[in-house]
Amino acid sequence: MLITPSRDNLNRIVILNPKGGCGKSTLATNIASCYAQRGPQPAIMDYDPQGSTTAWLKRRPDDQPPIHGIAAYKKSMQATRSWQLRVPEATANLIVDSPASINHDDLRELTRDSSSILVPVLPSPMDIDAASRCIADLLLVAKVNRNEGKLAVIANRTRKNTKSFKRLMRFLDSLGIPIVAVLRDSQNFVRAAENGLGLHEMRPPSRVRPDVEQIDKIVTWLDGWEARRRRAMQITSMRGRPFSGVTLLRKSQASSV
Ligand SMILES: Nc1ncnc2c1ncn2[C@@H]1O[C@H](COP(=O)(O)OP(=O)(O)OP(=O)(O)O)[C@@H](O)[C@H]1O
Ligand SMILES: [Mg+2]
Repeated sequence: MLITPSRDNLNRIVILNPKGGCGKSTLATNIASCYAQRGPQPAIMDYDPQGSTTAWLKRRPDDQPPIHGIAAYKKSMQATRSWQLRVPEATANLIVDSPASINHDDLRELTRDSSSILVPVLPSPMDIDAASRCIADLLLVAKVNRNEGKLAVIANRTRKNTKSFKRLMRFLDSLGIPIVAVLRDSQNFVRAAENGLGLHEMRPPSRVRPDVEQIDKIVTWLDGWEARRRRAMQITSMRGRPFSGVTLLRKSQASSV
């Protein structure tokens, strides 16, 4: 798994959680369409052999602002890997949709040059366990430094006032990682995906307003990536050495979910 070389002015947003069906592609398409509406044209890199985001792009209506698609799951015999994965020069936001069940090498490779990492989590106990492992792997295997502030979680498919919702929020709180949005379980996401659209592009706007508000929160957080990176560099230079993720992991493992 190869990622194109990093570029200082590129926000490389990796959406990751090896648990299948937690909402990675849904998040990827909604963030991409939001950036497409705003411009400049974003890019989606699809690492999932199912090609969900690539298929969504094919369904995208011609009258919507375009998104550059890179089917990274396809191996081309005609082109070098770096050529295949190149990102247009004008791209400011690259959204990387990752597959379910990635191994440790792929996890390291996917996250290496990332500037933002989003982990969607569903409310079921099995999903919470899987998310716990995912966060642990990000901190200990991929060596994501919590102080860099590039890691955030999204609660997905939630139903307020249910036990599972409360359990999920307790778990996410215990991580000490920002929860940047809470997405409700809504057919709006399914309908948008079917039509190659993002929530921002659905009509009438009144029907999708609560969902759009949450996507906006995610994009606002993503837009702060350069400020977060600068702050992290200052903290690191003041402390003299990077913060270890182990403290956080112990805290989250010890918490009763
Ligand atoms: N907030 C939501 N409300 C309702 N349905 C949702 C929501 N988020 C995702 N879904 C639906 O859940 C299913 C799985 O979502 P999605 O494909 O985004 O997950 P994924 O993590 O990309 O899955 P995979 O690991 O297989 O790639 C899809 O049918 C999607 O439309
Ligand atoms: Mg997917």
